[in-house]
Amino acid sequence: MRVLGIETSCDETGVALYDTSQGLLAHTLHSQVALHAEYGGVVPELASRDHIRRVLPLIRGTLAQAGQTLQDVEAIAYTEGPGLAGALLVGAAIGRSLAFALGIPAVGVHHLEGHLLSPLLARPSPRFPFVALLVSGGHTQLMGVTGVGAYALLGETLDDAAGEAFDKTAQLLGLGYPGGPALSALAAHGRRTRFKLPRPLLKSAELNFSFSGLKTAVLMLVQAQQTLDDQTRADIACAFQEAIVEVLVAKALAAASQTGFSRLVVAGGVGANGRLREQLSGEARRRGIEVFYPPLEFCTDNGAMIAFAGAARLQDTDVGEPGFTVRPRWELSELPPSHARLFEGEAPGETGR
Ligand code: KG4
Ligand code: ZN
Repeated sequence: MRVLGIETSCDETGVALYDTSQGLLAHTLHSQVALHAEYGGVVPELASRDHIRRVLPLIRGTLAQAGQTLQDVEAIAYTEGPGLAGALLVGAAIGRSLAFALGIPAVGVHHLEGHLLSPLLARPSPRFPFVALLVSGGHTQLMGVTGVGAYALLGETLDDAAGEAFDKTAQLLGLGYPGGPALSALAAHGRRTRFKLPRPLLKSAELNFSFSGLKTAVLMLVQAQQTLDDQTRADIACAFQEAIVEVLVAKALAAASQTGFSRLVVAGGVGANGRLREQLSGEARRRGIEVFYPPLEFCTDNGAMIAFAGAARLQDTDVGEPGFTVRPRWELSELPPSHARLFEGEAPGETGR
């Protein structure tokens, strides 16, 4: 089945064409970073208007890239939530309308399920079960994944998300929006030993995170500096990154050990962080745990993960009402289990290790 995926939940318009037997055929993306940069964050109304401008040209571009036409599309998947209501409505409206006009099914996808399954777009891809570390701008969760829709929450942030902590720290250091990539680039010039920042909840047995204290510690460190020269900013960025990465790595490995799962999957924008990848892969290797990352371009928001998760959900008979709705707030735990089979010879809800 050939599925057109449409992502418009926040500040990226992503479109992709995924074929269940041939894999990803094409994908395109338009980032609104430049549009929101002068405001220091996403302006919802501007985001919706830009999605409206971009989505049809991107659909045309994706189909052209794949050498396909609309008539070749067999189903449409769009992000139903969570995200910005107006932005979600653009993708839902275009997805449902196109499906109606073409007489094909449409399915609303949970954005985080998209992120969670995105490492399966890479080769080799992880088999179930695995622990997923989901680290995005709005979420930081550890999940035990035994199949599509079979997600057990193992731990989550009690306050700020990891991406949010990167963005806020970047702001304190005078870096633009979004801060994560800029902060990690600055940290590359920093010295690891100059400052030491707290590692919240590192020593506790629970799998929850807390990053707001770390953000406050950065604020105090910044305020304590007489001059905030380039080297000092880089040293602070580096200290922050070391602290947050150490906590993420420790909790992810603790989750693997608590569940007994030998595979670990990292998804969401912060999963693009080079230092996190380096530290996690090293520590995991020492413990015999295999780590899987989505390709870099599919860490942050994209249409491919939506097409992929949609293709899985479309294997279930009931894909929802013909009308459409969006769910700006939508917990992953509210998703029904799925009968989808993603691997050859796989039993539904496969749990074999
Ligand atoms: O998954 P995503 O694209 O959107 C959400 O669903 O939130 O994640 C965006 C977040 C932002 O907070 C951004 O600063 C962070 O991911 N991010 C990074 C990196 N690239 C993106 N954080 C740290 N290092 C990176 N290289
Ligand atoms: Zn996302």
